[in-house]
Amino acid sequence: MEIKVNEVIGYTGEVLTERQKKTGILIHALQKIQEEYNYLPEDVLKKLSEKLAVPLSDIYSTASFYKQFYFTPRGKNIIKVCMGTACHVRGSAKVLRSLEEEFDMKEGETTPDLSMTLETVGCIGCCGLAPVATINENIVGEMDENKVNDIIEIIKTGKDSE
Ligand code: FES
Repeated sequence: MEIKVNEVIGYTGEVLTERQKKTGILIHALQKIQEEYNYLPEDVLKKLSEKLAVPLSDIYSTASFYKQFYFTPRGKNIIKVCMGTACHVRGSAKVLRSLEEEFDMKEGETTPDLSMTLETVGCIGCCGLAPVATINENIVGEMDENKVNDIIEIIKTGKDSE
């Protein structure tokens, strides 16, 4: 069944240009691709370019505008250490350093086996629990050596982080 954009989105669909409609569809498609692969693989973006008749350079230009899109493979587990002021004061740099040393990596990198990507973030709004880290969608507050070791075990054993 053919989807008629103007019928689906009403008046808005009538006033949008074809290019604006394609941009809206493009961002949605990029989100879906990233959900599937955890990043935006080049071969998939090439296929998307053909399918939408949008130049590949435009797709890269749009995707790189948004911080949420990644162009290199990311780990199965995404660890984010908060480096906001409260967390910094309460030792988040030590938490980050412990993880970097344990996995022989730097912030922003992914382990070669794709088990983990290590990142930093600004304040995530849980300052009362500082220092804070997240493992995927889960917030871990009052990070100490034991909790760092728990995270290390989750990554090394492939356990579920729930
Ligand atoms: S500074 Fe880390 S949660 Fe606010």
